[in-house]
Amino acid sequence: MNKDEIIEWLLGCDDDALFERSAQIRHQTVGDKVYLRGLIELSNICSKDCLYCGIRKSNSEVERYALSKEQIMSAVDLAAELRFGSVVLQSGEQTSPSFVDFIDNILRTISSKYGESLGITISIGEQSEGVYRRWRSAGAHRYLLRMESSSDELYAKIHPAGYILSERLDALKLLKKLGYQVGSGVMIGLPYQTIEDLADDLIAMRKLDIDMCGMGPYIEHSAAPLSKIETAYTPEERVKLTLRMIALLRIEMPTINIAATTATETLDINGRVKSIAAGANVMMPNLTPLDMRQKYCLYNGKTSTNLEIENYNIEYGERGDSLHYKG
Ligand code: 5AD
Repeated sequence: MNKDEIIEWLLGCDDDALFERSAQIRHQTVGDKVYLRGLIELSNICSKDCLYCGIRKSNSEVERYALSKEQIMSAVDLAAELRFGSVVLQSGEQTSPSFVDFIDNILRTISSKYGESLGITISIGEQSEGVYRRWRSAGAHRYLLRMESSSDELYAKIHPAGYILSERLDALKLLKKLGYQVGSGVMIGLPYQTIEDLADDLIAMRKLDIDMCGMGPYIEHSAAPLSKIETAYTPEERVKLTLRMIALLRIEMPTINIAATTATETLDINGRVKSIAAGANVMMPNLTPLDMRQKYCLYNGKTSTNLEIENYNIEYGERGDSLHYKG
């Protein structure tokens, strides 16, 4: 699809046809399976100061936590017991040598306990090449790093000075080179964001040739500076745009894994099911210990998930690697 066609679909020219097409393509490629990843939010300590995010460094209202190795391993064990095929270890961005060692140790512990039967995804922000290499050899299979937006101007507006989109894109290319299954994604309905920007986001993900995608609506966090700037999109519109983005991405990149995100569910009680119907094939139930979960608050009203989903075949005990990944 060219950009003009993508824009037409994003504007809602024919949602019925769009969702029918994406359902058909999904059925023929990744099938109607839904894979589960147990999400474990390791720590809300973050060295970054992204203008939209609730756990940004300068939000002094947040009580900071870091899960212990024992807490992490019990969540991993729970994922295995529930026969989720994979875990996602997500954390605020930290780069200290002790943090890098801690993650390395966790990855080795999980791998030696579960071998290749449990997929391990990490989502720990921008790191040095050496760190990406270490974590890869310690057992991580996949890396999630959202580009947040493919527009240099918009990226600059939603981040503090000095955060540069091209560096993030370089990180994604590097992760791919190092043999990770690479996931990225964007926020949808940001202040200043245009429909054209969203079309460019889809084109950028296609160009990067990602294996996985997680994208969801932007949601204000009252303690984050970006919430003072009004977005042009109502919450309903953001959900609609998210579903169209998912459908278009499924059509454009049929074999990738696409996650139904928590943010979509936060704005729409049926957000997850609707995302799956639009073309997503991955869900990430939250396994973070409950008392910590509220502290990992990226935006107002962030919910955790339930597992009710009908009409799709949840694949218990399968890793569900991206069919797009060629090793
Ligand atoms: N609204 C929606 N998504 C957000 N994220 C961070 N803050 C917000 C927000 N206010 C997303 C970012 C980040 C991921 C971990 O959470 O896209 O990459």
